[in-house]
Amino acid sequence: MPSDPAAAISVPPELQSCDSHGEEQTQALGRRLAATLQPPALVILQGELGAGKTRLVKGLAEGLQVAHEADVTSPSYTLVHEFRSPQCTLHHVDLYRLEGSAQLATLGLEDVLPGGITPSSVVVVEWGARFPLFRGWPRWLVTLEITGEDTRHITVQWLPADVAQAERQ
Ligand SMILES: Nc1ncnc2c1ncn2[C@@H]1O[C@H](COP(=O)(O)OP(=O)(O)O)[C@@H](O)[C@H]1O
Ligand SMILES: [Mg+2]
Repeated sequence: MPSDPAAAISVPPELQSCDSHGEEQTQALGRRLAATLQPPALVILQGELGAGKTRLVKGLAEGLQVAHEADVTSPSYTLVHEFRSPQCTLHHVDLYRLEGSAQLATLGLEDVLPGGITPSSVVVVEWGARFPLFRGWPRWLVTLEITGEDTRHITVQWLPADVAQAERQ
């Protein structure tokens, strides 16, 4: 799917590596990421339970103007929530429930994104890094690390098509 493989995308310095001192800051980072990415885009979130992945998606949804923060909740039991505006569709996927299951290896795109994706899609996947299906795609990789009760170290990388190609092999 994702963005034009030839497009060079550089991550703004303030997104590359930062320390969040509260959930509001993590949400604000989601809004900044929304302002940076161009649909179609794939965003993989990695970080343990409670790292702030869903909190970041709330900001992403606000920034993309597809939903209010209160509408964004963990889709753990339904795998995916979709939020639409005339400009953009945000597909919020959470694979936590499938973690460690044999289902992960065989899960197809149609299982995760039953309605398909469009040029205006932004697909954000909690627990996506361990999921083979997305491994070969150009993507944003956001890593959230718990560094204290209210603090998180967050890095954002853009992994372009050539990295994705290498991983596929
Ligand atoms: N700096 C921070 N950023 C994000 N969440 C934080 C932060 N500090 C504390 N928290 C708390 O951590 C929890 C993160 O929850 P959530 O976003 O659902 O995590 P995940 O989706 O990664 O499991 C929330 O209870 C939130 O209040
Ligand atoms: Mg979550």
